[in-house]
Amino acid sequence: MLILGIESSCDDTSVALLDCSEQGCFVIKESTASQIEIHQKYGGVVPEIAGRMHAEKIVPLIEQVLTGQSKPDIIAVTTGPGLITGLIVGTEAARTLAWTKNIPTVSVNHISGHIHAVEIGEYKIQYPALALIVSGGHTELIYITEPGDYKILGATLDDAAGECFDKVAKLLGLPYPGGPQISKLAETGNTKTISFPRPMLDSDNLNFSFSGLKTSALYWLRDNKLTAEKIIPYELPTGIYGQSNSEPTTNDFCASFEQAIVDVLVKKTIKAAEEYKLKTIILGGGVAANKKLREELSGAIKQFIPYSLFLVPSLKYCMDNAAMIAVAGYKQAIKKDFTDWQNLTADPNWELGR
Ligand code: KG4
Ligand code: ZN
Repeated sequence: MLILGIESSCDDTSVALLDCSEQGCFVIKESTASQIEIHQKYGGVVPEIAGRMHAEKIVPLIEQVLTGQSKPDIIAVTTGPGLITGLIVGTEAARTLAWTKNIPTVSVNHISGHIHAVEIGEYKIQYPALALIVSGGHTELIYITEPGDYKILGATLDDAAGECFDKVAKLLGLPYPGGPQISKLAETGNTKTISFPRPMLDSDNLNFSFSGLKTSALYWLRDNKLTAEKIIPYELPTGIYGQSNSEPTTNDFCASFEQAIVDVLVKKTIKAAEEYKLKTIILGGGVAANKKLREELSGAIKQFIPYSLFLVPSLKYCMDNAAMIAVAGYKQAIKKDFTDWQNLTADPNWELGR
């Protein structure tokens, strides 16, 4: 079955054509236009600009991916959650293509895309499964009994993990998106130098909260006067550029901060996993590209939930992409979960499981 995936919920316009069957979902062709460079100037995604950029890119990308290929059997498009300015561009493109080419459409939730990103290629989720989806907009623990049956066990009460990375990076004067920058700087820092809070680490539920950690990072930077001017370029070793080895460096700050986020994410995931008999644990979303999180969650699963399979997408498919939307769409198509193109509507607040 040929599936055309379309994704435009944030700052990536992405189109992919996949061949999906019982053997797995394989990418035939894909193309993504990132808007990061444009939004960097503003320190974050500007919805109005994002919408315009998606509108500019969507048709050329669809053309590029479909040229020379057979007509897709199905169109899978992200209709929510995300920025309405972007979602309507992808949704309208899918509606137009569906109507003019007479192709059935599937309405895909962006988070279900992040979950099924691990199935790009030959890997398969075995159920029941638990997914930790961590991105710029989401931090969720999801229990899945079968594709389409999602139950949110816990979510952030305020900032998402990626948002916390991005906001603290901004305090340091690092460019958007800050998560990769902080994790790069953290590589040569000491995780124990600064004792940041681990919000809700021992709460008796599976929710998260990161705004207190962000505030604590803000106060620490203010009190210790570690500002953008003092940042050590990460190509250079620590301890130079006027920072003595005895003072915490930017690298130490980043390592300690990153460790606080990773500790909470890992502990809560293991807590959830211990409550359910799981066959698979999935890590997905942009923050799943974080090396420390991948390593520490993998280590904890081996130690505490050794009977379960741990699946993480390749780095490329942690970020927003249309291939993951095509895979999630394929799962829905098998269950005949189609939406007539007339009823395909962007829903920026679509909660998974609803
Ligand atoms: O899933 P995604 O591409 O877009 C959303 O749906 O939000 O995730 C982007 C988020 C950003 O907050 C970015 O800072 C974060 O993922 N991110 C990382 C890393 N790479 C991307 N956070 C921490 N460490 C990383 N290596
Ligand atoms: Zn995402």
